[in-house]
Amino acid sequence: MHNNDAAKAIRRDAESFSIRSILENQSSRFENHLNYMNPQMPKVLKTLGFDKTYIRAEGAYLWDQDENRYLDFLSGYGVFNLGRYHPVIVQAMRDMLDYKDASLVQFDCPHLLGELAKALVEKVPHLERVYFTSTGAETVETAIKFAKAHTKRDRILFFDHGFHGLTNGALSVNGNKEFREGFGKLLPDCNQIPFNDLNALEKELKKKDVAAFIFEPIQGKGVFIPSPGFLKAAEELCHKYGALTIADEVQSGMGRTGKFLACEHENVHPDIVLLSKSLSGGIVPTGAVLSRTEIFKSVFSRMDRCVVHSSSFGKNSFSAAMGLATLWVIDHENILERAAQAGESLMTKLNALKKKFELLGEIRGRGCMIGIEFQSPKSLQLKMGWSLLHTLSKDLFPQLITVPLMRDHRILTQTSGHHQDIVKILPPLIIEEEDIQYFVSSFEKVLEGAHKFPGGIWDLGKSLAKTALGDSKS
Ligand SMILES: Cc1ncc(COP(=O)(O)O)c(C=O)c1O
Repeated sequence: MHNNDAAKAIRRDAESFSIRSILENQSSRFENHLNYMNPQMPKVLKTLGFDKTYIRAEGAYLWDQDENRYLDFLSGYGVFNLGRYHPVIVQAMRDMLDYKDASLVQFDCPHLLGELAKALVEKVPHLERVYFTSTGAETVETAIKFAKAHTKRDRILFFDHGFHGLTNGALSVNGNKEFREGFGKLLPDCNQIPFNDLNALEKELKKKDVAAFIFEPIQGKGVFIPSPGFLKAAEELCHKYGALTIADEVQSGMGRTGKFLACEHENVHPDIVLLSKSLSGGIVPTGAVLSRTEIFKSVFSRMDRCVVHSSSFGKNSFSAAMGLATLWVIDHENILERAAQAGESLMTKLNALKKKFELLGEIRGRGCMIGIEFQSPKSLQLKMGWSLLHTLSKDLFPQLITVPLMRDHRILTQTSGHHQDIVKILPPLIIEEEDIQYFVSSFEKVLEGAHKFPGGIWDLGKSLAKTALGDSKS
């Protein structure tokens, strides 16, 4: 074959590849996961009735193959603050592909990264520099290294129930033993302190070997908010004893709580701030570690240490382009105000249900990060159902809310953490009042079912428990 013919043949071959046609036939969706990936996932989805074949997504909605529409109050665990396929984000992606930007040259200073760093520092003016990563956990790994390099100390303190990702270092500062168990010895010198306990924090800090205290300004697991003034006092203590503060805003940042950073609610100015998830509008993996110049100087201290900390995809222009587009949307579409208002509307409506439903406990959160806690009921019948279910499993009750929300109302929500009777909602920040009302009226119907014992959701509880027990035995 001549060279020309060969080139034509290759082009013809390439034309026969079509992602669209692969997307359009999803009959092997669950089977492939069962056979080639984590096999537990399709099993769990099937048990809970979350095994849908989604074929499209836009804004706050997903559609399945039968054109049923689902309301997404999960937002990809907080990745889609702006909903899916926001037109500005999509256009930025199209422009990047058309422009053929020379991304990832590596030995280079990519233009878009610098622009995004400047824009982020304008949003968080007490910090001066940005290191980019690909994931939330990688921002945590980076922060741990930077804190150690700067303070020349090794110890990291973290909160009970804190969640900072699941890589080795991030797992070492995870306050949930269910995640840590089974993975051998993690990093030494990481110590858990009880939530909201200033005395315990000071006791550790006094030893003057603590590099940093890492915290979420609002805990993702359970949506727990440190008591007013705690973070400010903790910041002062850390600085008094020479330790840094690391605010993990991977989930709470980028406007989720109605302010750009959740830390702003408490008027604290952490030495290191971590962003990820929705920084890139959800389309490209990304993360950012914001900090002070002197901390950067401790890491990148000489020319021969220029790449002493780096990763292949960290400096990728695509995520920076998406980041710039995301910040533009936040500013031009009043996203912070909208998140605050949507959150307030949700909290008011949910709180109003409390007088009608004895199972409903505290509803807490900020902006569009809300935890709905359930409590042991007082009436005899219901109490019996509650005790029975909790004897079978301490993780089951919130599933009895999320499952019917999905099954009967096509709304995606999540349970929040191990051994907690909490349902968490993370709607996209662009959510409209009409969807809020739909969520609350659906939630009310599910609660009506939950207040009838026996029957209703309690039967579902028994069958879920049976499946779970059968699986743990096998
Ligand atoms: C507060 C917080 N930090 C870190 C992470 C880890 O991010 P990633 O899953 O991108 O590694 C998460 C993920 O949910 C998170 O919520």
